[in-house]
Amino acid sequence: MKIIEIEGGRQLSGTIRISGAKNATVALIPAAILTDEEATICNVPEITDTDALCDILKILNVKVNRSTESLVINTKDMKNVSIEEEYSKKLRASYYFMGALLGKYKKVEMYFPGGCSIGARPIDLHLKGFEALGATITNEKNKYIVEAKELKGANIYLDFASVGATINIMLAAVRAKGKTIIDNAAKEPEIVNVATFLNNMGAKIQGAGTSTIKIEGVDHLHKCFHEVIPDRIEAGTYIIIGALCGNPLKIDNVIPEHVDALISKLEELGINMEVGLDYVTVLNSPEKLKATNIKTAVFPGFATDLQQPFTVLLTQAEGRSKVTETIFENRFMHIPYLKALGADITIKNQTATIDGPTKLKGTEVVATDLRAGAAMVAAGLKAEGTTTITNAEHILRGYEQIIEKLTAVGAKIRIKEI
Ligand code: UD1
Repeated sequence: MKIIEIEGGRQLSGTIRISGAKNATVALIPAAILTDEEATICNVPEITDTDALCDILKILNVKVNRSTESLVINTKDMKNVSIEEEYSKKLRASYYFMGALLGKYKKVEMYFPGGCSIGARPIDLHLKGFEALGATITNEKNKYIVEAKELKGANIYLDFASVGATINIMLAAVRAKGKTIIDNAAKEPEIVNVATFLNNMGAKIQGAGTSTIKIEGVDHLHKCFHEVIPDRIEAGTYIIIGALCGNPLKIDNVIPEHVDALISKLEELGINMEVGLDYVTVLNSPEKLKATNIKTAVFPGFATDLQQPFTVLLTQAEGRSKVTETIFENRFMHIPYLKALGADITIKNQTATIDGPTKLKGTEVVATDLRAGAAMVAAGLKAEGTTTITNAEHILRGYEQIIEKLTAVGAKIRIKEI
């Protein structure tokens, strides 16, 4: 097991550069198999989720050439074989191979995906979308066989604007015959990044980034070169860390519009920031932060992935703040550990009530999932004394070089294996 140890209470100053977006990368890698030639993706983050997807590519006999930050994926000798559970369960995004393989071969055999235990996370909307395109689904225990004689474009309405379902349906529909319309599609920037990638390969997708996506199927997808967008969740996490202990802390390589909701909330708290074209600098935090409320929502609302780190900041605000989680049923697993660090928080249904400010004092905590782990890092940097975070593997799934990036701005943080 990996453990992160932080000596907190230090001020952080300097620049942190944001890496390529995890949630875009994890869809772009499976999407790349749709080409019959070679796809080059650059600005790929070195995180363990990238490794897990490259392992699946290798099982499919896809040639993967990885250099610093770029991936060349060649599908010339590719074979459509079953993706076994030991691979699918390593991450949520393994499910994007369902849409991509179905699109390319009209058949896919794979096991249920893994990922953070932040809720039930069913995949019914993905499967309904595949069925609408003409696929039949056989499900035995955890194994899914999805196949179609032919995929035919369809009108698909998503009951919920799911990121995963929108991308997965798009991956299958680019190789279907005729036109597919996805209504109530998710609008996250990662979806736009994936649609641009597919269009660069010759797909015909319009409307990504709005709630109606139109896809005209094509027979062939060609060679292409593509760049991953900066990670808005990594950026948001470091901006929050800046608000907790920055003096000043510049977060570079950010698309500020992707973190608009966070920036508005930080302004409500009273954080002083400079927002540039591609950076956000947290100048300083006033003595007293104002309490505020957040409610998570689909993009462009307040990102559920930033809810957990933001809760840490609210423990430092004067008065009562409320955090309502609307996307995942089980995304408060960081709260007991924040309380162990000294926070005053109660949870009722899907709302956490935080009374502050409270001093945080280092202790032993657990990274129960990826963003809960990020919250523990933020809290550990603020807390006096030593914070020890166990199960730190979760954090490495989504934050490239987190130890190096924080050390470079003055944090005392290290990782070890026990
Ligand atoms: C993606 C992100 C995750 C982020 C989330 C919401 C990736 C790899 N992960 O997760 O970091 O927190 O978007 O922004 O990109 N749902 C169903 N049935 C389905 C699909 C989803 O009920 O078929 C529900 C989920 O259980 C959840 C909600 O819809 O309650 C949102 O899920 P979704 O948008 O699909 O999130 P993910 O793609 O899993």
